[in-house]
Amino acid sequence: MKKLPLLGNITAEEFFSEYWQKKPLLVRQAIPNFTPPLLRDALFQLASSDEVESRLVSEVGDQWEMKNGPFDDDSRPAITQKNWTLLVQGVNLHDDQADALLRQFSFINYARLDDLMISYASDGGGVGPHFDSYDVFLLQAHGQRRWRISSQKNLELKEGLPLKILKKFKSEQEFVLEPGDMLYLPPQYAHEGTALGECMTYSIGFRSPSFQELGENFLQFMTDSIDLPGMYSDPDLTSTKHPAEIGKQMVQRISDELNKVRFDEEDIVAFLGQYLSEPKPQVYFSPQEDPLSAKRFSQAANKRGVRLSRKTQMLYSGSTVFVNGESFEITRADKAAIIALANDRQLAAEGCSRASQDVTEALYAWYQDGWLELN
Ligand code: SIN
Ligand code: CO
Repeated sequence: MKKLPLLGNITAEEFFSEYWQKKPLLVRQAIPNFTPPLLRDALFQLASSDEVESRLVSEVGDQWEMKNGPFDDDSRPAITQKNWTLLVQGVNLHDDQADALLRQFSFINYARLDDLMISYASDGGGVGPHFDSYDVFLLQAHGQRRWRISSQKNLELKEGLPLKILKKFKSEQEFVLEPGDMLYLPPQYAHEGTALGECMTYSIGFRSPSFQELGENFLQFMTDSIDLPGMYSDPDLTSTKHPAEIGKQMVQRISDELNKVRFDEEDIVAFLGQYLSEPKPQVYFSPQEDPLSAKRFSQAANKRGVRLSRKTQMLYSGSTVFVNGESFEITRADKAAIIALANDRQLAAEGCSRASQDVTEALYAWYQDGWLELN
């Protein structure tokens, strides 16, 4: 197995068995000579768009304030003002290089990968001592940040604040990160980052849906596949002295019917694929304004290959493929091409020219919808 410089020259297997969801890992120069793909002004530009999720956190005395974006030049504090942080979510959806950075972590399943968040902090800025419920790689992109971390079990939060701040934070370890350094933290690990001078931190986050969230969404999903023919009938009904009472016989009959609702692993795969590949609410695709004809598209794809749009989520399980919340069955002949496209997020010219008619048609439809682009 290959040792990964990104993980401090250990293998992905070593990382998973020693650190993932277990303990922090500090990697000095995870990306040597790191030049951040997005600098301050580009980040501010993103934060001024209403298609981008952003927050501004500032600390005034021991008061915390949080506002939701968008923020233009006038609604953002001056660079010279201390103790504020601008957090921009989902930067990978808007920038090719940010997306490429996120894909450096594709030794971890896409089903777990969430997004690249970038924070810009003025001197002294930070979001306070807190914990997150997801795994995160904190990559220092510009300037210095001091991280204090703690394995404490007391995760009680201060009340009445607009953001999660730990009531009692007892730092156990402290590191100053320079550009290219990276700190991995498992979920529920207490931490506090403070900018030493202005700085930027890139957070590569991994989603972990709660079982409650999964359960609620699964039940919603199942409403489409429930099949309970017939309707309630009671030809044996007799007269009652208690007309307000729901009769035992009615309860019994209906519970017999409802107990026929069943689900198996196939339903769960269908749900998961659809749920995990569903674009986030703020994600919009722009259909091609002036698309090539199907024939021209196919000629171009056979020469240049295709790649998924940054916003496209493509996952698969067995012979079912899920793209942006929709599912498709694939034949054995098409499996190699579709799986290559899902895993590598692109399909080379050769793969396109060998693709079946069905795959070529699907690629063309995805191209028209803005889900996929020509290389
Ligand atoms: C930040 O980058 O300021 C916050 C990241 C975090 O603590 O999760
Ligand atoms: Co955090």
